[in-house]
Amino acid sequence: MTEDFKGYIGVFDSGVGGISVLKDCTALLPNENFVFFGDSAHAPYGERTVEEVQQLTMNMIRPMVERGLKAVVIACNTATSAAINLLRETFTEIPVIGVEPALKPATEDDRNEHIMVIATPVTLKLEKFQKLERTYGKDADVTAVPCPGLAGRIEKGCLDAPDLKELMQELLGPYRGKVDSVVLGCTHYPFVRRQIREALGDVRFYDGGEGTARELKRKLEEYGLRSDSAGEGEVVFLSSKETAEEIALYRTFYRMDTRE
Ligand code: DGL
Repeated sequence: MTEDFKGYIGVFDSGVGGISVLKDCTALLPNENFVFFGDSAHAPYGERTVEEVQQLTMNMIRPMVERGLKAVVIACNTATSAAINLLRETFTEIPVIGVEPALKPATEDDRNEHIMVIATPVTLKLEKFQKLERTYGKDADVTAVPCPGLAGRIEKGCLDAPDLKELMQELLGPYRGKVDSVVLGCTHYPFVRRQIREALGDVRFYDGGEGTARELKRKLEEYGLRSDSAGEGEVVFLSSKETAEEIALYRTFYRMDTRE
């Protein structure tokens, strides 16, 4: 077995979306080595069956853990919702960190009266989100809207393409002016904040990236796994779509601004 990623932190998503979480992780932990791996050959996950998402996620994570990762971040709401328990039961030696829609901070912000949650159909239908909504949404006005097709369009990398704009209008247009805040419950969506505002009007955004990075830091400290290197860490990109173009696309997403 090769251990070529020994001591690296793995960050995984179905495709480019998890790069929004990776950016928060590298900003908080600049001296760590990261390897981002996306399953772009099988993306999007959000309209597949739960069993398929579990299988694909396991297929991606197992070989990377065998290559020596010290921790893994499931930077995908869909894969976290479908597979986090299975992953934690399987890979007991390392911390496995998941993501979840940032509904808690959105409901705790007094400025928000009408909160919208957008995510993939799988994320919204599974127990993880249902529980989150029962817990934090019970005294708030929360509208959860599945966005089939949106992650797939973002995956192509053309964020101002007319078909993406059209889909956005179709999915979000009916809520224009009716919501004041949006929880980005899919890690692909922070890349299209501007386009979401164009469809919905002026809204506040909440995403789970920074919270996930803080949770990663806490777990590394708890397990005694923080790097003591003084220099800047490395960031490696891998994809199941094994082309130079795909890796170049990942790098382009890594350079994009996802904050306001
Ligand atoms: N980025 C993912 C998420 O957070 C998955 C999108 C997809 O593959 O459908 O849900």
